[in-house]
Amino acid sequence: MIRYGSDLTVGDITVLVALLGKMYMPVNQLLNFQVEWIRSMAMFTRIFEYFDMPVEIQDPANPVVPREATGCVSFDHVNFSYDGERQILKDVSFELKAGRSIAIVGPSGSGKSTMINLIPRLYDVNGGSVTFDHVDVRKLSLAWLRQQVGIVSQETYLFNGTIRENLLYARPDATEAEMIEACKKANIYDFVENQDKGLDTMVGNRGLKLSGGEKQRISIARVLLKDPALLVFDEATSALDSISEKKIQDAIDPLIADRTSILIAHRLSTILAADEILVVKDGQIVERGQHEELVKAGGVYAELYETQFSKALEKRE
Ligand SMILES: Nc1ncnc2c1ncn2[C@@H]1O[C@H](COP(=O)(O)OP(=O)(O)OP(=O)(O)O)[C@@H](O)[C@H]1O
Ligand SMILES: [Mg+2]
Repeated sequence: MIRYGSDLTVGDITVLVALLGKMYMPVNQLLNFQVEWIRSMAMFTRIFEYFDMPVEIQDPANPVVPREATGCVSFDHVNFSYDGERQILKDVSFELKAGRSIAIVGPSGSGKSTMINLIPRLYDVNGGSVTFDHVDVRKLSLAWLRQQVGIVSQETYLFNGTIRENLLYARPDATEAEMIEACKKANIYDFVENQDKGLDTMVGNRGLKLSGGEKQRISIARVLLKDPALLVFDEATSALDSISEKKIQDAIDPLIADRTSILIAHRLSTILAADEILVVKDGQIVERGQHEELVKAGGVYAELYETQFSKALEKRE
């Protein structure tokens, strides 16, 4: 308190407080030094441990590089476990012919995403085999294989950067016109055009916050630019409103037209876009066929239809 008659003036106190702040900072920094040092060392140790880890998936000794790709895939008695204990996929067999599309449906955790992880060799099978264009994926050049497979994943990942940078990631030499064309096809161009900076709008944590549907459509544009032989669309489970859903549906159609595709589907409209439906439960294919016959069969698909798809249908009507 400033007592009346004290020698300290308001000016003195102001100066004192300002100087104290200046003195306190370096002392505080010095005290924190040890904490920072220990934290950094722990971080370095973890980074180097990571670098020292053996790479599990590697190119074969004589990698096959086919000249062209049609995108056909087959699973032949595939068994798979992430940890070597719990069996996730059990004796999965199916064939996807070039230019055709299949929908994979099944309860959450049944192994749908796991199945598609095996195609670009994010993991290798524990039994049986996966072939791409009639060659075992373990014999193909990894870079070539991954170039042929385009995945729109469940959790869309966009970089902190501009929409343009996110698109160019798929094909660094894409022209402006090609990017615009891809955005139009993916049904996101109206949105891009409405931003002040257009394609140069920043997105991600440090930029514009996009809705789930918008992110997914940018991700579709990205895959369109990549123009892969095989398209995998791992549909997000989160509910979208019917307008967003329609926009995504319109974006998917040009993607799968004339292209070999796998659609992991939660929405009836996506399921119906495919030529064949595989129903997965507990890591096994339990039913396969067309929508009508599967509903009539009264099995797992019919139950999923009752509980999930038909409700979505009502909502839209
Ligand atoms: N990287 C991983 N490591 C260990 N276990 C995993 C891994 N990824 C998935 N799993 C397990 O494998 C099982 C199948 O998971 P998967 O992601 O394939 O299910 P899903 O059918 O795609 O489900 P959803 O419809 O919810 O996406 C789950 O029990 C899951 O916990
Ligand atoms: Mg999944």
